[in-house]
Amino acid sequence: MINGGVEIEGLVFEAGSDDRDGFAEQASVRERSVAPELTEDDLVLDRSLRPKRLGEYLGQTKIKESLAIMIQAAQERGDVADHILFSGPPGLGKTTLATVVANELGANIRATSGPAIERTGDLAAILTNLEEGDVLFIDEIHRLNRMVEEVLYPALEDFALDIVVGKGPAARSIRLDLPRFTLIGATTRTGLLTGPLRDRFGVVFRLQYYTPEELADIVRRSASILDVGIEEDGALEIARRSRGTPRLANRLLKRVRDWAQVRGNGVIDEDVAAQALSFYEVDSLGLDAMDNRILELLSVQFGGRPVGLTTLASALSESTDSLEDVYEPYLMQQGLIIRTPKGRQATRRAYDHLGIPFPESI
Ligand SMILES: Nc1ncnc2c1ncn2[C@@H]1O[C@H](COP(=O)(O)OP(=O)(O)OP(=O)(O)O)[C@@H](O)[C@H]1O
Ligand SMILES: [Mg+2]
Repeated sequence: MINGGVEIEGLVFEAGSDDRDGFAEQASVRERSVAPELTEDDLVLDRSLRPKRLGEYLGQTKIKESLAIMIQAAQERGDVADHILFSGPPGLGKTTLATVVANELGANIRATSGPAIERTGDLAAILTNLEEGDVLFIDEIHRLNRMVEEVLYPALEDFALDIVVGKGPAARSIRLDLPRFTLIGATTRTGLLTGPLRDRFGVVFRLQYYTPEELADIVRRSASILDVGIEEDGALEIARRSRGTPRLANRLLKRVRDWAQVRGNGVIDEDVAAQALSFYEVDSLGLDAMDNRILELLSVQFGGRPVGLTTLASALSESTDSLEDVYEPYLMQQGLIIRTPKGRQATRRAYDHLGIPFPESI
């Protein structure tokens, strides 16, 4: 799938990949049990739910405006757009935005991911196969290895590839010209990117969690594509429990749709949404079993004291990476946990959420 890249449609859904864009090599940090499981049907439906143009991409207003300006400016100059980095927690729409940008530029997109590019030769093959104006999308770009990264630098700066031929004293470097292209990188954490790589992006966009209102718009858009009847309040109820994440909002919508069809009259109103989501064990804040387990550990087992990341991770049998990338950001954003110099700590809000008294000694 790497050589020659993958065109847009192929990028989006490969069988069995859930909606993770067909990258079999996805990092384990991305795996998160979203209460309801995905079905085959979901995979097909996901394709139609993914926005293709900026106008369909809801929320992230500021980012969209900046992108629109960048795209128009590049087009008016007849130049390629600057390299772009999208960062943010899983499911907020980084891959989607990359395809949207390519579509708006009228460019082909070639997609790969950091861990998939093992050797410098792999990257050289990808780069030399690009065509003028292409978008090269590298997902999980923080997982590129150093040697590969070094090959990428001149490609980004000068659209050139430096190849070493020969060995020992006879070795010399030749420079090959590459077509001009736009790199779009995606990462769940910019902090993991090396400085030199980060500096080579013309712009870095940090995607934020969506507001319930924005998510409700996304849910309504998806419902209309899926041809599901939904009321304002129903959409908002799903939105409120989607942890600020469109991917989750779409998944929950599908499960609520099933529930409404079998147990209700097919239309999703606030009651139906609330009942269905309780049935699927998604609580009022959208927290799932794992989130609640984290809160319980911090507040009950550790008695509200600060807990170090590694201790917490091993108590949960999770990697520190997934804790930091996947679980913590939303819990912190919701003010349920805080990071202190001594470790993670549950807040009063966490105790309230769990329905247990806050120990005033803290
Ligand atoms: N702004 C948006 N408007 C409408 N739908 C969206 C938006 N952003 C994301 N989605 C939906 O959410 C799903 C997940 O988005 P996407 O795969 O782009 O996330 P991601 O940030 O690349 O996640 P990951 O870090 O796991 O790769 C998409 O399939 C799309 O349907
Ligand atoms: Mg992605």
